[in-house]
Amino acid sequence: KKVAIGVDIGGTLTKLGIVDREGNLYAHMDFSTTMHKGFGDYLDELKNQIEGLRSQIDFEHEVMGIGVGAPNANYYRGTIEHAANLLWKGIVPFTDELKTRYDLPIYITNDANAAAIGEMIYGNAADMKDFMVITLGTGLGSGIVSNGQLIYGYDSQAGELGHVKIVDNGRLTGLGIRGGLEAYVSSTGIKRTVFYLLSDMMDDSVLRDYSYNELHGEIITKAAEDGDPIAKAAFEMTGKILGEQLANFTAFSHPEAFFLLGGLAKAGKWIFDPTRKHLEENLLPFYKGKVKLLPSGMMKKNAAVLGAAALVWNHLQE
Ligand code: BGC
Ligand code: NA
Repeated sequence: KKVAIGVDIGGTLTKLGIVDREGNLYAHMDFSTTMHKGFGDYLDELKNQIEGLRSQIDFEHEVMGIGVGAPNANYYRGTIEHAANLLWKGIVPFTDELKTRYDLPIYITNDANAAAIGEMIYGNAADMKDFMVITLGTGLGSGIVSNGQLIYGYDSQAGELGHVKIVDNGRLTGLGIRGGLEAYVSSTGIKRTVFYLLSDMMDDSVLRDYSYNELHGEIITKAAEDGDPIAKAAFEMTGKILGEQLANFTAFSHPEAFFLLGGLAKAGKWIFDPTRKHLEENLLPFYKGKVKLLPSGMMKKNAAVLGAAALVWNHLQE
């Protein structure tokens, strides 16, 4: 059986899986993106993990290629460039280095682009030609599909919406942009908002018991469900900023829908309700009532791993 390896490199975890052309995932695994001594070491670990995965599947298979999704990846050059939320700085020659370990076709694209490809082929966007996938993890990523095509732009870095400036003198993003969107709207952004609100508001809150490293999305969601005023205010503030920005982004390419994915999207109505309200309120008159805000159809399916593997299948077709 012909299979591809899909890899999704995140700020915290690298996820990988063995996938066939139909999007069946036969084995998958996670490992830490940060526990290594350098880039070469990381690639050695990636190779170990791939071989470990292959030993888990019990049928004859041929690996047709490796597809990778990563923050700040350049699809045309095979590089990761000035990653905001990874340890490797500067320009990393990702596919060239991995090719010294595997004599296979290897492709890399932006992690949110990989998620958008996954959504398009295996998720909820199968019948759509114009949509954006917004990933809300360590950072904020976007994969923009217009007229059925993923937008790469002049040198492959289209869709860096996590770094658009939304306020003066604001929080820094991982790329040093002051007041950039992902510093407010992402899994880490909402944590920063919680700590800001805790220091600013006197309300009782269970969230006061957590250190920055201990706090995570599920705790904030649970607190909101229990009526915690800080948790509820943090979701409201985050959804307001996201909704306003999605209204702005609508003017670029007039998407039929925005799909939310990633840790913060798992908060469900707590993030979707305020985002939808502020999106709708800020839309230009001719967009009103026409832009959907939807959960990704890939929330449990690992959009970026499947989307990254699909890069391999797409190239085989050409
Ligand atoms: C990076 C994007 C990436 C996003 C999500 C941002 O900080 O600039 O390239 O897609 O994080 O990982
Ligand atoms: Na992108």
